[in-house]
Amino acid sequence: MGGRSFLADRVKTIGVSGIRRIFDLGAQLADPTDLSIGQPDFAVPANVKKAMIRAIEADRNGYTTTRGLPELRARISRQLKEEFDWEPDVFVTLGVSGGLVLAALACLNPGDEVLISDPYFVSYPHLIRLAGGVPVFVDTYDDFQLHPERFASAVTARTKMILVGSPGNPTGVVYRDEDIHALAELARKHDLLIVSDEIYNMLTYDGPSPSPVKFAPERALLLRGYGKSYALTGWRLGFAAGPADVITEMAKLHQFMYVCAPQPGQFGALEAMDTDMSAQVADYRRKRDLVCGLLDGIVDFVRPSGGFYVFPKVPSKYQNATEFIAAAIEHKFLVIPGEAFSRRDTHFRISYAAADDRIRRGCEIIRTLAK
Ligand SMILES: Cc1ncc(COP(=O)(O)O)c(C=O)c1O
Repeated sequence: MGGRSFLADRVKTIGVSGIRRIFDLGAQLADPTDLSIGQPDFAVPANVKKAMIRAIEADRNGYTTTRGLPELRARISRQLKEEFDWEPDVFVTLGVSGGLVLAALACLNPGDEVLISDPYFVSYPHLIRLAGGVPVFVDTYDDFQLHPERFASAVTARTKMILVGSPGNPTGVVYRDEDIHALAELARKHDLLIVSDEIYNMLTYDGPSPSPVKFAPERALLLRGYGKSYALTGWRLGFAAGPADVITEMAKLHQFMYVCAPQPGQFGALEAMDTDMSAQVADYRRKRDLVCGLLDGIVDFVRPSGGFYVFPKVPSKYQNATEFIAAAIEHKFLVIPGEAFSRRDTHFRISYAAADDRIRRGCEIIRTLAK
């Protein structure tokens, strides 16, 4: 061997995702109790599947325009007009991940700071750094609410963007209306872009999740996805909506990087937007109640109001989440250690997007581990 490394410095700063590690481990275990997976366990609605199949059979398999199918974009625009009385530029992305990458690349100069809550969704710090930006972590323990005053004191002359996600991954917490309002005002005061990752916006159980779009539409970049709402994470579809200059530059990069989102899936997404998901949402509310009931008195946790995650504190007999996860694996129980989402390693993420018997089995193992 010997010789040079072909790898760029930028990849050396990025570790393997803590989620991926558990995922790979799960693949090696026979019959694990897996509560690590961050995707819905219900089926894609039949009419949505059929819409995609029809598109394939009708030979709608080529590229679309960069920004996506005109019919789908019009449907998204109608939704945003109805929901917020908002008429932003819109384009169809490769999932919310596609929107996040492009937002970072289009908006961040080297050294620009982005405020994110800690805990955060796994990809945020990496994508910010890849674009040359600097993630600035705002601690939101122990209630995982925003605490706008903590964000305010983290603002510097280099701050360019605030990136928020509600309902949150890994916490399932839905932010308070007044806190999102305060953050939107902070963005206005310091002339910041406020990026809102609303991938779980349809999965809320105690009332809707607030959006910065309501409070600062002129500086909001909204990212939404179809994956979690309709269980089609593998179709890689979402959309971005926001200021015309930002969307124009994101779409320009999107053209060179991806050309367009997959056409057949865009027909599926169009059908999905008129599909009633209230039964699936009600079932996930029931699962939320089930898991909270089972965990009550065993571990400390904040009752989640959206998504499909709970983020409990590890029982006090363990030094940190990594030690707890090691013990969990002895029971073939898979959850994600807090360090995948945080600078702290004190909590762990459970996904209750799973069959009830698996949720029960998992909570029983937690009871055993906490003894
Ligand atoms: C908060 C959050 N944002 C973005 C994503 C990525 O979404 P997509 O599959 O649409 O790229 C996820 C997926 O787990 C997520 O939890």
